[in-house]
Amino acid sequence: MGNHLSNLLNMNTQKSLKIGILGAGTMGTGIAQVASSNGHDVVLFDISARQFTQSENGLVKILNRQVEKKRMTAEEITAILQRITFSSELSDCADCGFIIEAIVEDTDAKKQLFQSIEPMVDESCILASNTSSLSIASISAALEIPERFLGVHFFNPAPLMKLVEIIPGISTSNEIKEKTRNLIDSWQKVTVIAKDTPGFIVNRVARPFYGEALRLYEEGTADAVTIDWAMKEIGGFKMGPFELMDLIGHDVNYKVTESVFKEFYFDPRFKPSFAQKRMVEAGRLGKKSGIGFYDYREGAENPEPVTDQELGNKIFNRILAMLINEASDAVFMNIATAKEVDLAMVYGVNYPKGLLQWADEIGPSYVLDTMSALQVEYREDRYRPNPLLKRKVRNGEFFHG
Ligand SMILES: NC(=O)c1ccc[n+]([C@@H]2O[C@H](COP(=O)([O-])OP(=O)(O)OC[C@H]3O[C@@H](n4cnc5c(N)ncnc54)[C@H](O)[C@@H]3O)[C@@H](O)[C@H]2O)c1
Repeated sequence: MGNHLSNLLNMNTQKSLKIGILGAGTMGTGIAQVASSNGHDVVLFDISARQFTQSENGLVKILNRQVEKKRMTAEEITAILQRITFSSELSDCADCGFIIEAIVEDTDAKKQLFQSIEPMVDESCILASNTSSLSIASISAALEIPERFLGVHFFNPAPLMKLVEIIPGISTSNEIKEKTRNLIDSWQKVTVIAKDTPGFIVNRVARPFYGEALRLYEEGTADAVTIDWAMKEIGGFKMGPFELMDLIGHDVNYKVTESVFKEFYFDPRFKPSFAQKRMVEAGRLGKKSGIGFYDYREGAENPEPVTDQELGNKIFNRILAMLINEASDAVFMNIATAKEVDLAMVYGVNYPKGLLQWADEIGPSYVLDTMSALQVEYREDRYRPNPLLKRKVRNGEFFHG
């Protein structure tokens, strides 16, 4: 492996590095825009030529808006577009130094594609997947040199969301991890290193934002609009959980929850909700289908929230405690450091502040008391306080030294 590694270490991470993006859908197009805006030549590959028109039109529209807002000049956007080559020939990626795959979320399809491209590229080429839910280890098994493979998880929309989770697999070399991080940092992104476990950081830690909101809704504690009001007005979140699920689409959001639940061997902390399942079954997928928890159809009226402060505090405190407990677990299980977990939630899902910083501000003992009260009330494993949270309280410590 010595040779591969020294080649990889010599990889030029400057602008001359050509970037290959596999899949010209939502994420591939966004990542291509990021790489090209940072001066790289980009090959954007897809099996569907039809996708290119959509991808290019999307890019032109987004970039033109930047010109209208006087954030970019017409020359700059012409240069960005000129640096991107659309291709349905995989061999056009042969001289790329860094390749990011963003095709369908299917292990076999991803493995097959990496097996086709690996013999075409130089030994120094780094191969990465933008998967949001598949294991990096499972995809890496298809490669001749798994040391050069890792996960780079951008968030949607890639040009706007600053976070990129970097996920080294069991075989990824340390040097490749560092090279990748340096490259993506040079694209003005915030990078965090996450362990190769289900949901990485964000899609794991964020589960209670949806799950506990749905639980409160199912119990009849409050309706969707009131829970959203509490999280926005009292918690300072930009969107409430129900608005956000409606925007993401219940089909997508439910699938992630279900996959995390299964991958965690059915841990009750991640249990999906019947209320959301029924929404999916009924085709009420949210904004895209005109109706979800809210009605988006023309002339439709949505209820007003019950703006009761006591009720709002109860809702917010319970969801926040669950989120902090999950963030604590991510640190406890060495998924990432406290600092990186906080960065991930702020830059990946726009939380008003890092969850562990929040815990330090309100006091870890307050969070523990909330969790313990829930556990006593329900006697469900779902509400078990995380051991690290308990330890912090016992030792009078904070999450951030
Ligand atoms: N959409 C999101 O919010 C989001 C966020 C982070 C990560 N991801 C991940 O990014 C990846 C892509 O997601 P997306 O939302 O951009 O999907 P998408 O459906 O918009 O695009 C996928 C593209 O891949 C192409 N494709 C499918 N099979 C291919 C193959 N074998 N070779 C080449 N191209 C192929 C399709 O033609 C399509 O253009 C997935 O792994 C997804 O889990 C998505």
